[in-house]
Order: sequence, then structure tokens, then C-alpha cells
Amino acid sequence: MPLVIAVPRELAEGEMRVATVPEVVQKLVKAGHEVRIEHEAGANAYYPDVLFTAAGATIVPNRAGLFKGAKVMLTVQPPTPADIDQLDEGTIVIGFMNPARNLETVRLMRDRRVTAFALELVPRITRAQGMDALSSQATAGGYAATILGAAHCPKFLPMLTTAAGTIRPATVLILGAGVAGLMAIATARRLGAIVEAYDVRRAAGEQVRSLGAKFLELEINAEGQGGYARELNPEEKVQEQQMVSAAVARADIVITTAAIPGRRAPLLITKETVATMRPGAVIIDLAAESGGNCELTQAGKTATEHGVTIIGPLNLPAHVAFHASQMYAKNLQQFLALLIDEEGSPVREFSDEILAASLMVHAGEIRHAPTRDLVEGGIL
Ligand SMILES: NC(=O)c1ccc[n+]([C@@H]2O[C@H](COP(=O)([O-])OP(=O)(O)OC[C@H]3O[C@@H](n4cnc5c(N)ncnc54)[C@H](O)[C@@H]3O)[C@@H](O)[C@H]2O)c1
Repeated sequence: MPLVIAVPRELAEGEMRVATVPEVVQKLVKAGHEVRIEHEAGANAYYPDVLFTAAGATIVPNRAGLFKGAKVMLTVQPPTPADIDQLDEGTIVIGFMNPARNLETVRLMRDRRVTAFALELVPRITRAQGMDALSSQATAGGYAATILGAAHCPKFLPMLTTAAGTIRPATVLILGAGVAGLMAIATARRLGAIVEAYDVRRAAGEQVRSLGAKFLELEINAEGQGGYARELNPEEKVQEQQMVSAAVARADIVITTAAIPGRRAPLLITKETVATMRPGAVIIDLAAESGGNCELTQAGKTATEHGVTIIGPLNLPAHVAFHASQMYAKNLQQFLALLIDEEGSPVREFSDEILAASLMVHAGEIRHAPTRDLVEGGIL
């Protein structure tokens, strides 16, 4: 019996991506699996049904038909309550689960006894790099942030020497030089801007400099566990604010990506600092969803204050949906390679370190302890 893999059309507002692409479908079909794609699932990312059919998938007109008998569901956003209701017990759902914001979804999956893997829980170890969807989508988001900033900036980014005079290059400042920040730096450099960047982790300095950007350094090194940042103490925050404010005031485009896992995003740009910026300057706040790095950011909105445009995009990877989907689909393909055994069935024990860490719900239990505490502590 072939393993039935179902891929629905994403329903979340503004979601343009799709969880698989024809190139990956072809490989899954070749490996003996049956791939079902909901009608127009890839349309917003410019993968039309005909390409999925040519790759060997079956196009299914509705969700009921899609899920019937499916063993695996691949998704970008967490499944909806109606979807969970239609899944057979034991179906394996793989995708972003954003558990802290979707406790009710987690509870429904537990009660339905489906198995759910959350891609944001895949450990960031070398062996898991190919399945690291947080990184692939942060890459897409970092690229899109610079393009969005350039599109809103009234200046050229590169230096130009023309008959109509010489144009000085624009200055782009990146706050937070993780995966998204580094991609934003690389993109701004390719566009010819002068780029400055800051991160609390001193280790980021070498990567920033290797991309041709200037690294702004404090005396502090706030590298915490597992390569992530730790929260700064109050004194350190004052030093940081002063240095960041001066850099923000001289920038034409500021892209902020600073995040601390599980916490509100650090506040790096106050409204007073925005008032010191040049009119026409642009802030793209990638941390908008987790509270924003700029005090004036409104999630999902564009605001103008003192002539400064402040954009708080919610789903930047969806702006480059074609390639973001392609990268995501490859992440899932690698994840499936770990999950499915040589006979083409899901492994019985999720003992592999990567599977065990990303297992969110299984056999009527919430396996991810922090989420279990939130769901069961809240008596959902
Ligand atoms: N497989 C792997 O080994 C692997 C894969 C991906 C990322 N990583 C590493 O994980 C780390 C985090 O990556 P991420 O992009 O997911 O991070 P993230 O999205 O959690 O945070 C983005 C950046 O914000 C920075 N930051 C936090 N507070 C800040 C502040 N007050 N001011 C300035 N910057 C601040 C963080 O240091 C980080 O670089 C990086 O070291 C990255 O290289 C490793």
C-alpha cells in the first residue's frame, strides 16, 4: 500500500506559500508514495495544478477527499479545527505549529489522536540543517525585507556616477544578525548600499564583516545557550540603546530582526529615536509579530511618523512565495526521509533525536512539555 501524503491549500490570511512543489512531488512519487494536492494549493506561489499533475500528483477538488485515508499531511501553517476534525486518528501532520499561539489547535490534535511534528522544534544541529525550515524561511524573509525597504526608500541604494551628478550610496542598518539579518545584509550589499549591523552575540561580528558590512560593537557579549541570545541586564540595555540610536539616526533603511526565543522581541528603537531619523527613512520591523523592535511598529501595518515609514510585515517569506515554498518543500522532503522507513511506512518509534525533539502531539498526549504545561495548566 503506498503511503498517502496530502497537501492542502493554505487558508491563513496572507499565506501564499504551499508545503510542497512539483520537483519534490516527483521524488516522493518515484519513492512509491501517493501524493494528493488540493485544487489550486500552489496557485498563489505560482505552482499551477498542471505542474503537480505532470509530477505524478493527484489533484483533489476538496478537503474531505484530500484527507480521506491520508497518512501524512504536509502544511505550512497549523491545521484548522475543521481539518483536524477530518483527519483519521494517527495521521501525521508536519508543519509550523506556532504552539504558544495555537493552544486550542494543539488540544484538538491531542483529542483527535493525530501525530503532529512542529518544524520550529527541529534542533539546530548539523544533521538537521536540511530540515531547518526556520532558517530557510528566515532567509526568504531577510531577502524580502531588504527589497521592501529599497522599494519604500526614496533614494538609490548604490553609488552612482552620472552626467547628472554623483549619488552617494544609501546606508542600511541591520539590527539582529541571525539568519534573516545576515540575508538582509547580503542583499543590501548586493544592491550597493553601505551596510552596518549590530547583534548582541559577538560571534555574529565575523559573519557580518565577511559580508562586507561594518559590525557595531559593544563591550557586552550576550551569547546564551545553544547560540541564541540571552536577555541584557538594565545597564547593558542603556549602553545598547545609545549606540543603536546613533546608528539608527544616520541610516536610510533600518531592518530589525532581533528576537529572543519564547520572549517578547527586545525594544531597540524608541519613538524618540525615530524622531531623530531623516525624513524618507524606512524601518522594516521583522519582529512585528512578537511585539516589534521599534516602539512605533504596528503588526501588519505601515505607519508614518516624522516622515519615517515604519512597516511591520507579518509574513515576509510569503512575499517570495515561489522560492520560499521550494525551500520549505525541500526541508519537508528531508524530514520525511527520516520519518519514513525503507518499506515506505512511518517509523514506529520516534527515537531519532530530531524526530523526538520536534514531536508535538502523539497518541493523545502533548509531548512538548512547555506546550503541555500551557494547555493542561490552562485546563483547555
Ligand atoms: N544548524 C545550525 O547550527 C543553525 C541553524 C540556524 C541558526 N543557527 C544559529 O542560531 C542563532 C540564532 O539564529 P536565528 O536567526 O534563528 O535567531 P533569532 O531569530 O532567534 O534572533 C535573531 C537575532 O537577533 C539577535 N538579538 C537578540 N537580541 C538582540 C538585541 N537586543 N540586539 C541585537 N540583536 C539581538 C540574536 O542574537 C539573533 O542573531 C545564530 O547563532 C545562528 O547562526 C544555527
